[in-house]
Amino acid sequence: MQILFGALAVFIIMIALLWVLVPAIYGLPPVSSRDERIRRALELANPRAGETLYDLGSGHGRVLIMAAKEFGLNAVGIEAGPVQCAVSWINALRNGVSSNVHVEAGNFYKSNLKDADIVFAYLTSDHGNRLQEKLGRELKPGARVVTVSFELPGWNIDFFDREQLIYLYKK
Ligand SMILES: C[S@@+](CC[C@H](N)C(=O)[O-])C[C@H]1O[C@@H](n2cnc3c(N)ncnc32)[C@H](O)[C@@H]1O
Repeated sequence: MQILFGALAVFIIMIALLWVLVPAIYGLPPVSSRDERIRRALELANPRAGETLYDLGSGHGRVLIMAAKEFGLNAVGIEAGPVQCAVSWINALRNGVSSNVHVEAGNFYKSNLKDADIVFAYLTSDHGNRLQEKLGRELKPGARVVTVSFELPGWNIDFFDREQLIYLYKK
């Protein structure tokens, strides 16, 4: 019995460490925006049902689930944290949108974003510098990018929500 409790404790500690450490290694906490901020960002991108949205660093999947549930989008999340990915899969199942939500465990700098109609990113200005070139190279014409809390240097801002700090860009 003691061995069982010991193994369970080790398992829980490992999950907790993975949950906190992986996002920290990537320099960002897995903190989500408030729902109304996510909704506003998605509305600004003028989504049409059936389009494909990518969330770069999708955390626990809140953006993906709202995109699929409220806007009828196919939502793809790329997230470094394995625990965050597992939580996203469970949340998508619980919300009945698992067929429209796909979560890839990995580094979004290594994924090609050519299929995205909309890209959502809630990151920092360091990522803005790296992403502006990647997005410019990979996105198709007409794709929209919404960034929360950071800008894409070198891109023309199509709309800026000053109150919520949301930037909209169009390729
Ligand atoms: C601030 S959270 C945003 C979560 C989600 N997009 C939202 O708004 O609810 C940023 C997430 O990006 C992830 N992340 C940071 N850099 C990454 C990278 N290069 N590849 C994949 N995920 C990354 C972190 O693990 C963290 O969960």
